[in-house]
Formats: sequence, structure tokens, C-alpha cells
Amino acid sequence: MTRPQNAVLRSVVIGLGSYLPKRILSNADLEKMLDTSDAWITQRTGIKLRHIAADDERTSTLATHAARAALAEAGLEGKDIDLLIVATTTPDYTFPSVATQVQAAIGMTGGVAFDLQAVCSGFIFALTTADKFLTAGSHKRALVIGAEIFSRLLDWKDRGTCVLFGDGAAAMVLEAQPGGGTTADRGVLTAHLRSDGRHFSKLYVDGGPSSTQTAGHIRMEGREVFKLAVTMITDVVEAAFAATGTTAEDLDWFVPHQANARIIDASAEKLNIAPQKVVKTVAFHGNTSAASVPLALAAARADGRIKPGDLVMLEAMGGGFTWGAALVRW
Ligand code: UT7
Repeated sequence: MTRPQNAVLRSVVIGLGSYLPKRILSNADLEKMLDTSDAWITQRTGIKLRHIAADDERTSTLATHAARAALAEAGLEGKDIDLLIVATTTPDYTFPSVATQVQAAIGMTGGVAFDLQAVCSGFIFALTTADKFLTAGSHKRALVIGAEIFSRLLDWKDRGTCVLFGDGAAAMVLEAQPGGGTTADRGVLTAHLRSDGRHFSKLYVDGGPSSTQTAGHIRMEGREVFKLAVTMITDVVEAAFAATGTTAEDLDWFVPHQANARIIDASAEKLNIAPQKVVKTVAFHGNTSAASVPLALAAARADGRIKPGDLVMLEAMGGGFTWGAALVRW
């Protein structure tokens, strides 16, 4: 098949699905466990509740629920997918990957499946990776999943971290489709990833197979992370605007990482993005790490906010540090 001049392949979103575990832990529940208050958590973070996985649920369980929902929306089955990437920091096992377990669960018999670890930026990293495969023409349909059970990495005595995180998963199906090479195309228009390993001590887990042989717990210098997050997020979003010649005015929706409502508001303000364009779901699931951006997308899609043709900016920042942004036309 010959393509018209300037034609490119684009990774177009054709399905979204999400899954949140049934059990809810509210700020009032936390007040009974710790020296904290609903007022402090709400004012400092915007979080009201988080979902906690049941004892018999694993990250692959959550990921598989989300994958099935996304495939159903796309009208596809597992066998139609040839690339599966799971962004997670909380795998069921050290190996094999969550992705290969999901691959088997959804009946995806060919192609390739692997995990990608970039903590809270995991979904943006996985989406960007999938976009490279699809736009190179080597793969046709990708399932990109963010799935986490962060509740099992928490030190429930550390009020500075345990009130912030929750469990969940969300999945996106992308298909390689021809585009005209302009920002009018549907699909991923640009994606930018960054990392800086010098920030290790500000946000990390104090365990792992080659260090302690345990899973460990999250340790964070919250105020330091907060300060750097706003600068890093705005820099990488500006890079996505510059690469496409677009501005905050052109955006229909800003779908940021859902870690803290104050970080989201400060970033949007610095980027001159109008508050009514900002999708904020952190109140209802807390920080779900790699699941947070696609969970927010799924919520805004389900309630009719995001419509075909809309221009959507995604961003995230997390441990490493890692951070990134992707501009997508729905
Ligand atoms: O995806 C990236 C991952 N992480 C993040 O994005 C998190 C980034 N950081 C944050 O969101 C904020 O820094 C936090 C929400 C973690 C903390 O908010 P903050 O406004 O930076 O508070 P702080 O850490 O400076 O603590 C202020 C006070 C301290 O008390 P003193 O020293 O002033 O007496 C803390 O001990 O709040 C206290 N505190 C709490 N009080 C009630 C800390 N955690 C709690 C709590 N309940 N849960």
C-alpha cells in the first residue's frame, strides 16, 4: 500500500477501561488509625478516599479487569493485540512480569508483553514506548496498562506517606492508523520523557530483591518532591507544546498525574491552563502511581467530558525522578 506524501502512522486511542478495588478507605477511617485528620488530608492533598485491594487481589488481577474493559470498549479480544505493556512498581512477583500474566489471562497468544517501571510516570513512559512500536510499523495494536497495589508498599505508621496512596488499574488500547502528519491527526502527537537519578533519596522504597530481599516501604521527603514536581511538570509540558506548535489555549483537557490537588493546581496555573480544563480525580482514589493518569482519563471519558477530536495533555512525575508528558488528540 502506498501512502500519500507526508502521511505518518499515529497511535490512536480506541479503547479505555478501568478498575478500582471495592474496599474504600476514607479519611475518617485513617483518623481512627493515625494521628491525622480529614481536614489536614483534604487541605494539603485534596484526597478524600482511596481504594484498597482485597487480600486475594494481585496487581495482575486489577490489570486484567482494566484490560478486559478496555478491549470491550475497542470491540477487540486479546488475540487482536500484539503489544502489551504494563506500567507497575508493585508486581505480583519479582518475575515473571505482570504483563505476561495479563497476556495469558486475556488470551493474547502472540506478540510481546513486558513490564515497565517508572513509578508514577509509568503510564506516560509505557504510552511513549508503545507509540514508538506502533509508529515504526512493527506492531499494530497495543494494550497499555497502569496497575498498582501501592497499599502493600506503605508503612501504615508513617502518616506522611500512607494517607496519600491507593490501589487501582486502567488500560488503553491503541491502534496504528495513518495520519496526515499534522496536529489535526487523531492519536499521540508528541511525547517527552525525562529522568534524573540524582533525586533517589527524595522518593524511594527501602527494599528490593538485591538489597534487602524484602519488598520494602515507601520513603519520601514530601515537601522536596512537591517543590520539584511543579517545575519538572511544567518544563516537560512546555516541551510538548513547543514540539507541536500548540499552546494552553488549544487544549481541551489537561489530565495530570493525580498525586496532590495542590500540585495539579499550581502546575495548571503556571502553564496558563484554565481550571475548567483540568481533570482532577485525586479526591476519589488518591495517588495510584502508574494507574493515576489513565484512571483520570477513563473517568473524564466515561462522564462525557473527553470527546473524539479533543486535544488532551497528559503528564506525570515520580520516583527516580522520572517525568514526562504526551499530547494526544482523541
Ligand atoms: O507522585 C509523586 C509522589 N509524591 C508526591 O507527589 C507528593 C508530593 N508532596 C506532597 O504532596 C506534600 O508535600 C505532602 C502532602 C506529602 C505534605 O504536605 P506539606 O504541605 O508539604 O506538609 P509537610 O510535609 O511540610 O508537613 C507539614 C506538617 C508537619 O508537621 P510540623 O512539622 O509542621 O509540626 C507534618 O508532621 O504536617 C504534618 N503531617 C501531618 N499532619 C497530619 C504530615 N503528614 C500528616 C498527616 N496528618 N497525614
